[in-house]
Amino acid sequence: MGRLDGKVAIITGAAKGLGEADARMFAREGATVILTDMDKENGQRVAGEIGAKAEFHVQDVRDEQGWEDIIADIVSRHGKLDILVNNAGVVEPGTIETQTAEEYRFVMAVSADGAFYGCKYAVPAMKASGGGSIINMCSIASIIGEPIVVAYSMAKGAIESLTRSVAVHSANNKYNIRCNSVHPAGILTPMVMGIGGKLEGRDDLRPNSDGPEASALGEPDDIANTVLFLASDESKFVNGAAIRVDNAKSVVEGVVS
Ligand SMILES: NC(=O)c1ccc[n+]([C@@H]2O[C@H](COP(=O)([O-])OP(=O)(O)OC[C@H]3O[C@@H](n4cnc5c(N)ncnc54)[C@H](O)[C@@H]3O)[C@@H](O)[C@H]2O)c1
Repeated sequence: MGRLDGKVAIITGAAKGLGEADARMFAREGATVILTDMDKENGQRVAGEIGAKAEFHVQDVRDEQGWEDIIADIVSRHGKLDILVNNAGVVEPGTIETQTAEEYRFVMAVSADGAFYGCKYAVPAMKASGGGSIINMCSIASIIGEPIVVAYSMAKGAIESLTRSVAVHSANNKYNIRCNSVHPAGILTPMVMGIGGKLEGRDDLRPNSDGPEASALGEPDDIANTVLFLASDESKFVNGAAIRVDNAKSVVEGVVS
């Protein structure tokens, strides 16, 4: 018996990285999985590899009408929505002195606006079918001081606060909807592999002290296992939590390896 048998889940940004790992694990545990992403080629490939339990839809999470349409479509074809993973996100390096307003608006639009719309349209759908679980992908960037990704840190802080607001609203109204955030440290995904290129030639992003250094990266399934727990009924008393999956990187000073 699967841990998500009979459940219907939507995962944004599921064409690669952490969203892909979530989608594969959810399907293995019995869920019907709707993968969405702007990357049609990889999204279709991953859904095809997962098989009959998966379908892919092109979605830009910045588009409010798109959210309304996709959730209505899921409910009309599958009868309900049990799980939303607000996973899509982007990172643009920059400090408070060098991050441009354009980069700031882009990062906030994908992460903060996207998660806001996702919650806004998932809550009524989940309420109508008796409850659900929302998992918002944050980062340790919303917890510690991350000097070189200021807009990203702000976006993740917004999502962390959104999470608590949705959790308390749902609990107060007895919706049986839970909303939790997951805060990874560095995990080996295309986002992290791409950062190296974005840092090239950026003297403003070099550390100017002998502070903590980067340590070993985690694996996508390290995060997917936590997301699976939060999506399943095993976590029925976990609501409004901010769960760090970071091998202590956010709680100790110095190198963790
Ligand atoms: N990888 C890490 O180390 C790490 C650490 C902390 C938090 N996170 C968070 O986890 C989530 C997934 O990260 P990842 O490392 O898998 O990233 P990734 O870049 O590997 O994958 C992200 C996916 O989101 C999609 N996407 C981007 N903009 C979109 C939009 N507007 N609409 C829909 N889809 C869009 C991309 O096409 C891509 O497939 C992000 O929210 C990220 O901030 C990642």
